[in-house]
Amino acid sequence: MPADTAVLAPTRLPVRVPLVTKPMSLLQSVAAARRNLLSILPDIATKQPMVSGRTGVRWHMLMDPKAIRDVLLERLDDYPKSNVTKNLLEPAIGDSMFIAEGAHWRWQRRAAAPVFTHRNVTNLGPVMTAAAETASARVAAVAGHRAIDMAAEMVAATFDVISAVTFADGAGFDRAAVHRAIDGYIAEAGRVSILDVLGLPNWIPRPGRLLSAGGLRAMKQMADASIEARRGGTGPDVPDLLDLLLAGEDPETKRRMSTAELRDNLLTFIVAGHETTALTLGWALYLCAFDPDQQALARDEARAVLGDRAATAADLPALPRIRAIVDEALRLYPPAGIISRTAQKPDTLGGREIRAGDTVMIPIYALHRNALLWDDPDAFRPERFLGAKPERYAYLPFGDGPRICIGASFALQEAVIILATLLARFRFAPVPGRDPAPVMILTLRADGGVWLTAEAV
Ligand code: HEM
Repeated sequence: MPADTAVLAPTRLPVRVPLVTKPMSLLQSVAAARRNLLSILPDIATKQPMVSGRTGVRWHMLMDPKAIRDVLLERLDDYPKSNVTKNLLEPAIGDSMFIAEGAHWRWQRRAAAPVFTHRNVTNLGPVMTAAAETASARVAAVAGHRAIDMAAEMVAATFDVISAVTFADGAGFDRAAVHRAIDGYIAEAGRVSILDVLGLPNWIPRPGRLLSAGGLRAMKQMADASIEARRGGTGPDVPDLLDLLLAGEDPETKRRMSTAELRDNLLTFIVAGHETTALTLGWALYLCAFDPDQQALARDEARAVLGDRAATAADLPALPRIRAIVDEALRLYPPAGIISRTAQKPDTLGGREIRAGDTVMIPIYALHRNALLWDDPDAFRPERFLGAKPERYAYLPFGDGPRICIGASFALQEAVIILATLLARFRFAPVPGRDPAPVMILTLRADGGVWLTAEAV
């Protein structure tokens, strides 16, 4: 179909990944995965509840909510995160909550739980409102003149937020250096991980084995210095994540985190929380530009609530449509597009035999577009989130079970505040011929950027 016909067609769909319709050999999947991890997903994963295969190792993809519940909730200890995921992240974030298992994970999760209560997350709202104002000023500077890459803008905005609430006032804490070290690490780690998620044998040559150790070391030293400084001094008026984690204690064992444990967990919050939230916002803005009618409805809501001011945490209940756009962006482009586990024992999932050592993947991208679970799965329809909630374990942008994302409400609050503020002030339109391509490296990125024009309203 010629591009202009596609633009006019009423059933036009937002960008998506062409999924595999023929089985691939090991080398073909390695080559495909290196370009885009999502391109190893078979098309049938959007039509069936389970797909199994063997590409070097035995693997299974689960799209059946019941089987997913078994893995993420009922038999959590039999399905730890895959070792390769751990090896990959360990150099940056140590044995922190994101990768630890069993008792070592449990006590850290319990000690950190109070950090993310509704009250504490709401108290951090002003930092998010300030980031929305800064992003809005940057968009205003180019509005009406030239296009702007909103994906890059959103990375800047979410880094402002997470660095302000982790190491806000740390003496000598060089935010720009930390940002460079983390982004460099994510880029390196991403190149390694595409093979690791498949669980391929170690003999397959991998690019980028040498991680940027120097940058990481400097970053850890800076983080340790700010933690030590905070221990001896006072923090900001409103307790930030560092204060809250410093005060954290496991209610069962009374254990508290050492400086190294605090540092690894705070760096985990930065690594796990900043790019993922930026991607959510970038994709939400792409979708709004893609569908001007939806954008107009969202703008009406935002303007009615906000007028010209920036959104705050207190506005969230009055912005259900903005929230539905965020939810729908997370369905169509889940930043964590695939999560994976390694089976520890023989089991049966969805009626199939699982052997110890098998790789069990939950391809969230395919789950969210599975025709057995969603009407018109590839269409952008935020209304689906305005009424009844989707089926549990069919919608998993944050995972589920005891290891569900600890920062979900933080991320959602931030995304709604920033999106509502921008939509109330600007009308966004796509730049013809510059649609982003969904490419999953470590996360589901908008390859080519989200180039939009903005016009002040
Ligand atoms: C839209 C943004 C985000 C998305 C899509 C997201 C997604 C996820 C997913 C899917 C998991 C589970 C991984 C698995 O089970 O294998 C997870 C875990 C986690 N996330 Fe997030 N996340 C986001 C934002 C954040 C933020 C803002 C923070 C911290 C401030 C954060 C911290 C964590 C941590 C610490 C874990 C590990 C929890 C545990 O294992 O107990 N995330 N996230």
